[in-house]
Amino acid sequence: MDDIRVGIIGLGTRGTHALARNMAETYPEHRLRVTALHDRNPDRTREAAQDLAAQYAAIGVTIDPTLHTDGHALIADPDVDLVMVVSITDTHREYAVPALESGKRVYCDKPLAHTVEDAVAIVEAERRSDNRLIMGFTRRYEQAWRTAADLLADGAIGRLQLLQVRDMIPYHRYLTGWWRRREWSGGALNDKGSHLFDVFNWLTGERALRVSAVGGRRALDEPAGHADRCHRCELTCPYRRREFATGAPVAEDVFTHAGASWLAETDERYVDDTCVYAPGTDLWHGGSVQFTYPDGLVASYVYTIFGQEADDEETLELVGSEGRIVLTRATGEVRLIAEHGARREVLDRRGPHFTDSHFGADKALMGDLRTFALGGAPPVSADDGLEATRMVVAAHASMEADGRTVEMKEIPDV
Ligand SMILES: NC(=O)c1ccc[n+]([C@@H]2O[C@H](COP(=O)([O-])OP(=O)(O)OC[C@H]3O[C@@H](n4cnc5c(N)ncnc54)[C@H](O)[C@@H]3O)[C@@H](O)[C@H]2O)c1
Repeated sequence: MDDIRVGIIGLGTRGTHALARNMAETYPEHRLRVTALHDRNPDRTREAAQDLAAQYAAIGVTIDPTLHTDGHALIADPDVDLVMVVSITDTHREYAVPALESGKRVYCDKPLAHTVEDAVAIVEAERRSDNRLIMGFTRRYEQAWRTAADLLADGAIGRLQLLQVRDMIPYHRYLTGWWRRREWSGGALNDKGSHLFDVFNWLTGERALRVSAVGGRRALDEPAGHADRCHRCELTCPYRRREFATGAPVAEDVFTHAGASWLAETDERYVDDTCVYAPGTDLWHGGSVQFTYPDGLVASYVYTIFGQEADDEETLELVGSEGRIVLTRATGEVRLIAEHGARREVLDRRGPHFTDSHFGADKALMGDLRTFALGGAPPVSADDGLEATRMVVAAHASMEADGRTVEMKEIPDV
């Protein structure tokens, strides 16, 4: 089996710790070899290279990626077959468009872009170049969600009547990094909601017609004497940056993603431990978003960024004419109530990699990446990404107008 040579742009949590690590761990199976790296922070590029060399070495493989100081040079690198765009969301267009035009296969992480204009530009580049892009909407690669989709398609609950996602996102982190400004991230609704809006489209096989949404921002009681960055702050604070895995507060000496480059950042756009009380944050803390699909089908999304790590953090419920499917993401459980309640099953869909990043989705994605890199169709496309971003933009427009109904046809499209 030949290697697929992979170049990664953006070496943060997602690029290095989720994608590249999974690439290394599944190398014997999928032969995805990292050959080129770029981050706008050259120290981070070096840190990532060391980290990944160790990951590959652990399975007996030596890698020697070229460390590019320019992302466009990585795209042009003849030693790269697959370009992975995993930099922060407002930079996706800058790399995805030339990557598509280069003729190489392209992965772009979700959300496709922070604005609908950028998302449209990426889809237009795809059409123009006759090339394809695969997206990283993780629910599409997770076993539990695939099971729910299969059950629905097999008619297990009859005709779909309602879709509902409850999303108690444990990320006040959205107030401390580049997510905190919509001009950089498109907002929490873009970063997280786009996953679930894509799920609505995937499961219904339709496009939403209109949306009505309300959003809120709860005032945070700002204490006197806080520092501008969390790692320098001595106060006891409910918003102290925490380790995702353990929920434990992070001490300064480990206050990094993968090295000192994170602590050394000074530009507020790239600092990932900005104080939650810093001015300039403009995202909605939570809200309720209702989409109407053709034929009166309703999809409902309710979220907060102040959720707690808990087993019922994110749930999907599908109500059909003959039954229900209830998926609990953090336990990998899919509950099926069929035949008007006469048949009840609890399916354990955790799979062998459930404890890995994104409940095993990133491991599953590696297989799909190989198939895609060799010419296969993307299971999740740029068009899917554009549609999710259009829905986010429409929902924000409704939130800004206190719940006014926004027709999807008001939002730009290709
Ligand atoms: N599929 C998923 O479930 C999932 C999960 C997490 C993140 N993401 C997406 O991945 C992307 C990165 O998120 P993250 O969590 O890794 O963020 P992060 O802050 O941990 O890392 C982002 C990296 O991008 C780099 N960067 C910023 N601007 C750049 C530029 N112009 N050129 C090159 N590098 C640049 C930063 O220096 C940083 O190292 C975002 O689009 C995010 O939405 C997707």
